[in-house]
Amino acid sequence: MKTKTIFVCQECGYQSAKWIGKCPECEKWNSFVEEMEIEKKPAGHRFLAGAIASSAQKLNQVMPVGQLRLKTQIEELDHVLGGGLVSGSVVLIGGAPGIGKSTLLLQVCNALSKIGKKVLYVSAEESAQQTKLRAERLGEKIADSLYIVTETNLESILEHVSKISPDVIVADSIQVIYTDSIASTAGTISQVRECAGQFTALAKRGGVCVFLVGHVTKDGSLAGPRVLEHLVDCVLYFEGENKNNFRILRAVKNRFGSTNEIGIFEMMSSGLKEVSNPSRMFLTERPQFVSGSAVVATIEGTRPLLVEIQALVSRTNFGMPQRRTTGIDFNRAALLIAVLEKRAHLSLGAQDIFLNVAGGVKIVEPAADLTVAAAIASSFKEKNIASCDVIFGEVGLGGEIRAVPQADLRINEAKKLGFKRVILPENNLKILEGRFKNSGLDIIGVRDIKEALGFILK
Ligand code: TYD
Ligand code: MG
Repeated sequence: MKTKTIFVCQECGYQSAKWIGKCPECEKWNSFVEEMEIEKKPAGHRFLAGAIASSAQKLNQVMPVGQLRLKTQIEELDHVLGGGLVSGSVVLIGGAPGIGKSTLLLQVCNALSKIGKKVLYVSAEESAQQTKLRAERLGEKIADSLYIVTETNLESILEHVSKISPDVIVADSIQVIYTDSIASTAGTISQVRECAGQFTALAKRGGVCVFLVGHVTKDGSLAGPRVLEHLVDCVLYFEGENKNNFRILRAVKNRFGSTNEIGIFEMMSSGLKEVSNPSRMFLTERPQFVSGSAVVATIEGTRPLLVEIQALVSRTNFGMPQRRTTGIDFNRAALLIAVLEKRAHLSLGAQDIFLNVAGGVKIVEPAADLTVAAAIASSFKEKNIASCDVIFGEVGLGGEIRAVPQADLRINEAKKLGFKRVILPENNLKILEGRFKNSGLDIIGVRDIKEALGFILK
């Protein structure tokens, strides 16, 4: 076997014949590492050989995905996957160390083996005893068809797979698994890519479902290989803060469903519990009769979610006023502060402003603009927002309130949780055409920020 030395960017997988300081692809500095690459067979080899392994199918005879879905028995995960696990698919789960990836997958494995599926858990990082200890902590009886191997060598793993022939395989984690066919050490780009490629091939060939666990780097992306994301069908991120026990599973890529779908879990002493009514949970600790607290109806994927946005505005004691945000985009917040200054005539120039989304949720959609602005104004003016109000709407630079998508979903969620009043963009109200007239909700359409604050901070 011929090998040659190449240099690979750990960030994006860009290959170069010599070492470079800055990657021309992703512009990252010092990201190149030396790796050995096996020389590929020349192109056209397959055609010369004349053998074709696969056969062409008629597209209208290919089985629809819906029929091939396997419910993982964990509803929140099924929801994120778009309705269950598609047979022959590869799912990559990324997340910071200790967030609960192994716990989640062990729960999935146990649930699947309980319904008679054969599951192979490849524990490449922990011993079988450690995994057993975790399983005991989960407090459930371990099903009979759940197998575990503690192996890091891909070839041995594949041997186990052919012996056991499982329906579902979990590789925890892909970064420590290595193949003999490549000389470089485990965790390098070529190793990870090759191993993931082999698992993908296995999944596509045999209709096996594969879960790959991937570590994330300090800046939150999957360690090194972006290339990994191209190889798999779904990429899920498991996020959460150490301070609280909520964990959010987010789909960032899904070939069989919508992305940005989220599933919410709570880490308990006996494993991860699904949170079936997240809006209620996010609002339980909301302070009553305190200024600077507002509730937004946001949409995460296809699911409406009510969350509390908190603002604290206090006079700057010296120097530049501070602006800090958690869960809200900093630049968006700066823009809203400027709009409040200019269009609602609040003089925030000498005020420190802190913004926070309760429960560790990150809000990216502009529908929360009006809520953020209302929370800031409420704290600044020391006037409470009624605890039965839900607010949403996009704020434009002219102070105008713009319509947002799926207003009916948001209103329904507010109604379900017993809120009494919804403040929303006037244009959304027009589109609704009186649909919520007899719902018992007071629905107020607003056109600009001044009018909105007039209603909210009465
Ligand atoms: P783990 O699944 O090992 O994380 P990862 O695989 O993502 O690195 O989760 C480890 C953390 O979860 C650890 O800090 C202990 C905590 N934990 C619980 O709080 N309750 C439990 O039942 C289990 C199994 C773990
Ligand atoms: Mg783990």
